[in-house]
Amino acid sequence: MLTIRAMRLSDYDSVLALWSAAPGVRGLESRDEIARILERNPDLSPLAFHQPAAGAAVLVGAMLACHDGRRGYLYHLAVDPAYRRQGIARKLVEQGLAGLAREGISRCSIYLIDTNVEGRAFWTSLGFRLRDDLVLMAIDLPQSG
Ligand SMILES: CC(C)(COP(=O)(O)OP(=O)(O)OC[C@H]1O[C@@H](n2cnc3c(N)ncnc32)[C@H](O)[C@@H]1OP(=O)(O)O)[C@@H](O)C(=O)NCCC(=O)NCCS
Repeated sequence: MLTIRAMRLSDYDSVLALWSAAPGVRGLESRDEIARILERNPDLSPLAFHQPAAGAAVLVGAMLACHDGRRGYLYHLAVDPAYRRQGIARKLVEQGLAGLAREGISRCSIYLIDTNVEGRAFWTSLGFRLRDDLVLMAIDLPQSG
């Protein structure tokens, strides 16, 4: 049986292990960074667990969902390779988007590595459109302490 619930900070180690094993997922956050994201975006980031008939539930999918008050963002979507093509990622995205909509967010974006062909097929299948009118620019800020 598959169950989906919101990520808690206590899930950090198992979520990090799942993300770290996924080639399309990069720029992983520290525990403190995840704590800050979860605090600012409570109950928005869904996790999928497979519950076998006997034994403990196993984490099989994870995604971060957050917003800045105007736009929503989904990060680090990954499903354990043994559980792919069963609709788990679709369920995680649907749950994340429903949570963002409840928060009054009307548009959600994702970042995808240009060469991630399978990831692009996935997001396209869910109705995400390519914004070829934009480029991403970034700057790193000095950190004190
Ligand atoms: C992308 C990923 C999250 C998809 O997870 P999943 O649970 O297998 O996806 P779903 O079963 O919900 O797929 C939904 C639909 O997306 C499309 N899709 C999913 N994986 C696909 C693939 N490898 N190739 C082509 N289309 C794909 C299909 O249309 C699929 O529907 P179908 O199975 O009925 O044909 C998973 O392959 C993964 O973890 N990849 C590595 C990490 C990554 O690249 N993440 C995305 C970057 S943020």
